[in-house]
Amino acid sequence: ATGPILSDGTPLADLIDLERHEVSLRLLTDPEVFRLELDRLFSRVWTVLAHETEIPNAFDYVARDIGLDPVIVTRSRDGSINVVHNVCSHRGMQVCRAEAGNEKQFKCPYHGWSFNEQGRFMGSPVARENMHGEFRAKEELALKKARVQTYAGFVFATWDQEAPPLEEYLGEIKFYLDLMFDRTESGLEVLGPPQRFVIPANWKCPGEQHAGDGYHAMTLHRSINELGGSESDDSSMYGIDVSANGHGLRLIDRRKGKWKNNREAVLKAQTLPPFEKLRTIMLPPGLTPEMAEELKDKLTEDQIRVLADYPPSVGGLFPNMGTFCFEFPTPMGMAAIISWHSFVPKGPDEFEFVNWFLVEKDAPQEFKDLMRRAATLGLGTTGFVETDDADTWPMMTEASKGFMGRRGTIKYGALTGEDQPLTGYWDKGEFPGGGHLYPGFTKDDSQWNWWLRWRDFMLGEPWGPDAHH
Ligand code: FES
Ligand code: FE
Repeated sequence: ATGPILSDGTPLADLIDLERHEVSLRLLTDPEVFRLELDRLFSRVWTVLAHETEIPNAFDYVARDIGLDPVIVTRSRDGSINVVHNVCSHRGMQVCRAEAGNEKQFKCPYHGWSFNEQGRFMGSPVARENMHGEFRAKEELALKKARVQTYAGFVFATWDQEAPPLEEYLGEIKFYLDLMFDRTESGLEVLGPPQRFVIPANWKCPGEQHAGDGYHAMTLHRSINELGGSESDDSSMYGIDVSANGHGLRLIDRRKGKWKNNREAVLKAQTLPPFEKLRTIMLPPGLTPEMAEELKDKLTEDQIRVLADYPPSVGGLFPNMGTFCFEFPTPMGMAAIISWHSFVPKGPDEFEFVNWFLVEKDAPQEFKDLMRRAATLGLGTTGFVETDDADTWPMMTEASKGFMGRRGTIKYGALTGEDQPLTGYWDKGEFPGGGHLYPGFTKDDSQWNWWLRWRDFMLGEPWGPDAHH
C-alpha cells in the first residue's frame, strides 16, 4: 500500500503489521501522525456534535468542535440545523465566544462583522468605507458550512462533500443502534448540557477501546463488580461482537450474566415470543413497561428478536464516539444509563471528552431523576467506571513517547474470525442482524477492524469496501 511517508523515511503503512495484528505505539502520539489525522480523517468522517434537544428553539445554538476546527451548531427558524465554522472570514477571530445561547446574529468581537445563524455575511461597521474590500461578492464572506445529518436526534457533521450519507456511513451498525437510541415515538432528550473535560491522552485510546474491548472491564473496572454493578465472573463477556465500517458494538448473551443464576427466568423466557419476553422479563434499560409497547411500532421483528436475546450494551462509532445503554447500581436500586461520548482531539496527547446523558422524553420525572443519578455515578468525570479509564489512557499515551516506547507495539492477536457458529437461541434460524459477527467471548476482532478503517483513511482510501480481517 502507498500512503504518506513520515519525515524519518518510515512509510505510515509500515506502522500497522497486517500479518501479526500489531500497531506501532508511535501512532498514538507522533505529531506528524496527528497532523495527518486532521487532514485525512477528521476532515472527512461524520462526527457527533450535539443532540437536537440541546437546541430546541429557533436560533438556539451550542459551540462545539470538529477536530481542531471550532463550529457553531445552530437552529434556523424553519427548524433546520446548521453547522458553521466559528472562524471569522475577515481575520480569523472566533465570532462566537459563548458555549451556548440564542442569537439571530453573531457579531465578531474583533472588528464587528456580523453573520446570521447560517453563516451568511450580514454587514460590517462603517459600511460606507467598504471595509471588506472592493472585489468580494458577499457570498465569499460567509462562514464555511459543514454538511449536517441527524440520527436519533444526534447531530452529525462532516466537511467532506464526497462522504456517503450518514445512514450509509453507519451501515449495518444502525440496526443495533436503534435498539438503544431509536425505539420510541418521542425519542430521547438530553439530561442537561454535556459534561466536557480534557484528558491528557491521545484520542485513539478511547476511540479504539470503544469499538470492542469488553475484556478490560473484568480487571480495570473490577471495583464496579465488587459494588454489585455487574457479574463478578466473566459471564458478561459472552455474546456477539458486531463490527461494521470500523464501528463496533457488544451484544450480551442474555442466558449468561445476571440471568444465569435464575434458571427459572431463563426457562420461562425461552417459552415466550420475543416481544413478550421484553415486556415481561427483560425490559430494555431506560424503558418503563408502558413505553416498551412502542417497541413494536418502531422496531422490526428481527430487531425485537435481537433485543430480546442479545441486547447491545456498549459500543463505539468510528472514529471517536462511544455509546452506552445499560443498568447501573444506585443507592435506590438499579437504574439505566443512556450515554453518548465524543473524544475530540486537541493535540497528539490531549483530547476533550464530551459526555451526553440522555433519557426517553416520555419517561416519568422520577424515572428521569433516577437515571440522572445512575449516570453521574457511573460514567464521565463523576463516575466510578470512567475514572478508571481516564487513568489508563494517559499512561498509554506517555508510554508511546519514550525511546523504547515508540518502538513498541500494541497487540490485537486474540481473534475469533468470521463464520463461527452462533450457538444458543439462534440454532433454529439465521441470526437476523448484519455486520461482521464474532460470537463467543469478546475478543480483538472489532478493534482490529477499527484500525483497518483508520488505515484506509490515512492511506487515502476512505470510502472503499468495509475493511475487516
Ligand atoms: Fe472578525 Fe475582523 S476578525 S471582524
Ligand atoms: Fe472502560
